[in-house]
Amino acid sequence: MNGSPRPGVIERYRDFLPIGEATPNLTIGEGDTPLVRAASLEHRLGVAEVWLKLEGCNPTGSFKDRGMAVATAKAIEEGAHSFICASTGNTAASAAAFGARSGTPTGVIIPARGVALGKVAQALIYGARVIPIQGSFDDGLTVVRELASRPGVALVNSVNPYRLEGQQTAAFEVVDTLGDAPDELYIPVGNAGNITAYWQGFRAYQNAGRASELPVMRGFQAAGAAPIVTGESLANPETVASAIQIGNPANWERAVQARDESDGTIEAVSDEEIVEAYQMLAADEGIFVELASAASVAGLLRRARGGEVIGGRVVCVLTGTGLKDPGAAVRYAPKPAEVEANIDAVASALGWNAG
Ligand code: F0G
Repeated sequence: MNGSPRPGVIERYRDFLPIGEATPNLTIGEGDTPLVRAASLEHRLGVAEVWLKLEGCNPTGSFKDRGMAVATAKAIEEGAHSFICASTGNTAASAAAFGARSGTPTGVIIPARGVALGKVAQALIYGARVIPIQGSFDDGLTVVRELASRPGVALVNSVNPYRLEGQQTAAFEVVDTLGDAPDELYIPVGNAGNITAYWQGFRAYQNAGRASELPVMRGFQAAGAAPIVTGESLANPETVASAIQIGNPANWERAVQARDESDGTIEAVSDEEIVEAYQMLAADEGIFVELASAASVAGLLRRARGGEVIGGRVVCVLTGTGLKDPGAAVRYAPKPAEVEANIDAVASALGWNAG
């Protein structure tokens, strides 16, 4: 472990990953994220145990670092000289970080409109070549798939199987922390790589005798970008949750397989439900996530309120930090009024008049 308290996913889960002698370990300290109880949600919903997996605590602020650690290491092992991806922002930031770490030129293709500024800022400062396109994430993915046919160019989107191998480690951590798989796993769905990876991870752990059961998988798309729910791909997906504004997910079939094999569901949550969960997580639990991440908790709220029976122990995956998009927080939080710089005015604004 090199004496490091945060060895990274490759070192920690080497036995479960396609890692050989020649695979470099580029870790930036990804993985080993907190799994915390959500007392307020438990109380509100009457569910015995609600746990939140805080993937925003990864080094670039989202779960993408797990898969990127493995995908970029394997790409270098296989002789790649460049990384490329299409992204709604988080994949771009993570690819750019690992590109910087390994000294590999990295191109990230993002929709010109809708990507949170913090994600663009990250990709730029890590030194990636950032290419905004006049089109959607799905258009970008079509372009990069073609570009990746050139020799030496590694495509690091979740169509790369090593991304999913790395992302399984989040499921491993959940089981390692809880002692077994949860009854249900709630997760946002965009390009559908993460739900696929969790399912793969839970199954791998069960096969290895580390978990005695498998969770029911519950995926949530934004209502305006819910092709898996409706069965129809969309040219113009629309949602406030820009990270999951995707009309034709690359891992569509595999997500459906995870849903069906686990006896689970993939459902839509409205933008209003996403915003409510986003506000509630921050105000009641002290956890600030990005809008897309709140889809998992929006789904739990919706099911609990709809009278569905919820498993005794559930885990909600919170995929990314809210800090990448402070504009959204300002938009959905009460606005403070400016006051004069004296004690009376400040005490009055605080509502502390009585004393
Ligand atoms: N949550 C966040 C914060 C994301 O950034 C994404 C995907 C998802 C959930 C959905 O995960 O695609 O595996 O189903 N973001 C990708 C990106 C598309 O480019 O950063 P998924």
